[in-house]
Amino acid sequence: TTVAVLFGGRSSEHSISCATAGGVLEAIDRTRFDVIPVGITAEGAFVLEDDDPAKFRLDPSALPVVSDNGTRILWPASTASRSLSVQRADGTVSVLGDVDVVFPILHGPFGEDGTVQGLLELVGLPYVGSGVLASALGMDKHFTKTVLQAAGIAVAPWQTVTAHQWAASPSSVLSAAESLGLPLFVKPARAGSSVGVSKVSSSSASELSDAIETALREDSRVLIESAVVGREVECGVLGGRAGAAPRVSVAGEIVMTGREFYDFDAKYLDAPGVDLVCPAELSPVELATMQELAARAFTAIDGAGLARVDFFLTPEGFVVNEVNTMPGFTPISMFPKCWIASGVSYPEIIDELIALALE
Ligand code: DAL
Ligand code: MG
Repeated sequence: TTVAVLFGGRSSEHSISCATAGGVLEAIDRTRFDVIPVGITAEGAFVLEDDDPAKFRLDPSALPVVSDNGTRILWPASTASRSLSVQRADGTVSVLGDVDVVFPILHGPFGEDGTVQGLLELVGLPYVGSGVLASALGMDKHFTKTVLQAAGIAVAPWQTVTAHQWAASPSSVLSAAESLGLPLFVKPARAGSSVGVSKVSSSSASELSDAIETALREDSRVLIESAVVGREVECGVLGGRAGAAPRVSVAGEIVMTGREFYDFDAKYLDAPGVDLVCPAELSPVELATMQELAARAFTAIDGAGLARVDFFLTPEGFVVNEVNTMPGFTPISMFPKCWIASGVSYPEIIDELIALALE
């Protein structure tokens, strides 16, 4: 089976995607899978990358990137073909082989958001993970919350502000946000890994303004959300293609030990103040409730293949924070940790994802 692994990409999570790909390149069973590593540069060029896990390891001092080596991947020009080719810098073209499945290990806009999924639908190549709609929904925190709320799943109260509304009348945005209370989180609608996210703890208008400006640098829409007081727990979802019931892992917990929130530096740069605990200490009833909610949230957005569902466990019950349709799964990430704690090894996750895509 030939797997084209797609990684990098045009989003602010480029390096995280590379790190996840590094983990997959390292763990994928080479006796059964031939790999074609396709990198996407930050500018959006599809290049033939090195099949070298070491090059894409998550090193906090030098985050991995796809650089432009002058090659260009040529996608099949017809749905009758699965043949992938590469054009070298000197203009010569060679065939890389017939692709059975594409593994789009891309996080963030232009990868996790349905755009790449749309390209793969157009050229007729099977791929791992959610389709166009679920990917687009999961990427967008406003529409995820809208759909989850409609499905009867609790989400944190929020307001969405567009760049236009903010430019037209900052004072009305700021006064509308007052009803949400404090503290607040301000987030770009479409970003991940906490890029552009701020926590606002004081009622000073400048703190909220700065947070909105920061988030608007990532997207033209931002969410202002009430901070939920509760434990932060997450779980992995696998399966669920063609409407089949998905499997849900045990829970992992993010425990703050002296940090305001689980920000980018804590996620990837080894910044102190956060511990990942897996499995989380939940009662059997809590675990079952969380798993049932995760499956419902996944189904509500029409998810397929995989996701990580993030929750707050509050005294009133679980609140869904978000659904990530292509969660980070560097070997130290929460998604594989949750599955490993559930008895599914990292290589087995990869096998299962590929098998699901080929179903
Ligand atoms: N967006 C990051 C990669 C995650 O959800 O894990
Ligand atoms: Mg996310």
